Amino acid sequence: MDLSNCKHMRFFGPHLNSVACKCLALVVIALVLRAVLLPAFSGFSGIEQNNSLVINNRSLSLTSESGIRKYKFLEVPQIVWGLNNQKIAFVRACLTARMLNRTLLMPSLSASLFYKEIDLLEPISFDKVFQFERFNSLCNGFVQLGRYSDISNRSDVFEMQKGSGRRWTVDRDLDQLREFSKDPYDGHEIMRIVGKNPFLWHDHWPVKDYAKVFECLVLVDEFLIEADKVVSKIRKIGREARTQVGFFENHIDSESSILQQVPYVAVHMRIEKDWMIHCKKMEQRSNTSEICSSKEEIMERVSNIKGLETPIVAYLAVADTLLEDKSILNGWKAGLLPYEKKKLGVLEIYKKYPYLIQSAIDYEVCLRSNVFVGNSYSTFSSLVVLERTQKMIRTGVSSSCGMDVRSPSYAYNILGESKGPHQWMTNMNDSSLRAISYGSNHISC
Ligand SMILES: *[C@@H]1O[C@H](CO)[C@@H](O)[C@H](O)[C@H]1NC(C)=O
Ligand SMILES: *[C@@H]1O[C@H](CO)[C@@H](O)[C@H](O)[C@H]1NC(C)=O
Ligand SMILES: *[C@@H]1O[C@H](CO)[C@@H](O)[C@H](O)[C@H]1NC(C)=O
Ligand SMILES: *[C@@H]1O[C@H](CO)[C@@H](O)[C@H](O)[C@H]1NC(C)=O
Ligand SMILES: *[C@@H]1O[C@H](CO)[C@@H](O)[C@H](O)[C@H]1NC(C)=O
Ligand SMILES: *[C@@H]1O[C@H](CO)[C@@H](O)[C@H](O)[C@H]1NC(C)=O
Repeated sequence: MDLSNCKHMRFFGPHLNSVACKCLALVVIALVLRAVLLPAFSGFSGIEQNNSLVINNRSLSLTSESGIRKYKFLEVPQIVWGLNNQKIAFVRACLTARMLNRTLLMPSLSASLFYKEIDLLEPISFDKVFQFERFNSLCNGFVQLGRYSDISNRSDVFEMQKGSGRRWTVDRDLDQLREFSKDPYDGHEIMRIVGKNPFLWHDHWPVKDYAKVFECLVLVDEFLIEADKVVSKIRKIGREARTQVGFFENHIDSESSILQQVPYVAVHMRIEKDWMIHCKKMEQRSNTSEICSSKEEIMERVSNIKGLETPIVAYLAVADTLLEDKSILNGWKAGLLPYEKKKLGVLEIYKKYPYLIQSAIDYEVCLRSNVFVGNSYSTFSSLVVLERTQKMIRTGVSSSCGMDVRSPSYAYNILGESKGPHQWMTNMNDSSLRAISYGSNHISC
């Protein structure tokens, strides 16, 4: 499990959120126009314009099938652990509700990372982190969230106890879900699953279904604005560095003109002590040397990414413990300008918030980067790449492998061409999220 930092996606900028629904028609028109005007378009160019507008048609594709009953609910235990595990757990709960044709009662997430001391879990309501109405409108027809105030009879509950232990197999778990989707259980207004955190439930759903629900998770405005601040700061530093070396005078093509957003690289560096211990153990267990990467290896591979125009800012998403470690800022090749929260001067933005929100902001910064480099055994990195792959597919690109990709992702723990990191996209055809939850070196590029 990945207990690191960084989180989420958005389709409209903060200044557009309130009118997002009204804008849907505009988006559709824009899409059609773009499809007509830019037949050769590939990659992400619609996404980074002014940090805001992401054009896609996902909500249109979700309105077809719908057996979800508005007044039959599924209730799940509080969702715990790191941001990424919480997101996976949340989606797993949504997909379980979908199978039962039920509305998921908005669950509690956890603001803190303490997972042994139950009283320190700091429950935080889902809608304090993600936009509730937005979620339901984006996921309309696929999965739905309900509020406790929608319940008419709170005592009409059936409790489903999930089994556990080795003998509780995936098949038995599925059989149980099938059985409880029938009468007499099905008639109850509330089906309450008791026992384990949904992250630990057996998985029955393909990556595509997870990806659909992840797309509906949009941070509330307050946090989107914070992420905007961080991203703007990164881009501003990049712009200044490029202006200083006369970059814009030498690049008058549209790709890198001064009017465009200045690109940045985000590197999710997992090199903190407890990760190193954990990954060495994993390497031994799976007889591979492709899990742990040292600081030096990461720096070298990132430097060798082909086609990276410098100067460019490399935002280092690192655990807080590494912010005191000056050495992560040294040793990068000339032209790669390393910054973490502290050097960027945005530490106080993060410090205002509990762990979960800090991660969510960092995640957003990584998600929006022009080039992302992470570790394929990190859940955090894997989710970033999954969402980037999904966005790319939405723009009509079926493969994000190859040089023509606008916003590529890489895994630094696996050697790629020219001694660089290996290019990485999520296999959306995978039948389960296993590779993403537990890490893999199959990165389908
Ligand atoms: C983004 O757009 C807003 C409004 O259209 C504008 O005021 C702002 O300067 C833009 N920001 C950047 C970085 O281009
Ligand atoms: C859920 O709804 C679909 C479509 O209406 C229906 O085919 C299916 O049998 C329903 N399943 C359950 C468990 O109610
Ligand atoms: C609420 O549900 C309980 C349990 O199914 C049932 O006994 C009770 O009659 C219901 N109350 C109402 C007002 O429907
Ligand atoms: C581990 O991998 C190496 C090379 O990939 C191989 O030579 C060796 O036999 C493997 N060891 C085990 C125990 O599988
Ligand atoms: C719109 O969505 C459909 C179905 O998901 C997809 O096949 C199509 O390529 C998308 N169109 C564009 C322009 O993104
Ligand atoms: C996923 O499936 C589609 C259609 O079946 C296929 O075209 C594509 O190559 C597959 N992608 C991967 C990564 O296997």
